[in-house]
Amino acid sequence: MRMAADILTVENVTKSFGNLRALDGVSLGVRDRKVSILIGPNGSGKTTLINVVSAVYKPESGRVI
Ligand SMILES: Nc1ncnc2c1ncn2[C@@H]1O[C@H](COP(=O)(O)OP(=O)(O)OP(=O)(O)O)[C@@H](O)[C@H]1O
Ligand SMILES: [Mg+2]
Repeated sequence: MRMAADILTVENVTKSFGNLRALDGVSLGVRDRKVSILIGPNGSGKTTLINVVSAVYKPESGRVI
């Protein structure tokens, strides 16, 4: 059987706006050929995470592969 591979890896990403830490050590993997969803309450950092993944924002720490 073929190994499931991550097509996106987020490692320990932190992003702040002033004193507000919008992302605090976020890590996740997105698998090839799987549907993944990002859920959370208003203001929990979903859009900020997408903006880090798409390189609109540079994270203060961590990395996106
Ligand atoms: N450009 C910005 N400047 C300052 N604070 C911001 C900025 N963008 C987001 N924030 C703050 O960062 C936190 C995360 O916001 P974000 O928009 O990423 O959340 P979200 O999960 O996408 O929310 P929603 O469900 O309302 O779309 C919130 O406290 C928000 O007020
Ligand atoms: Mg949003």
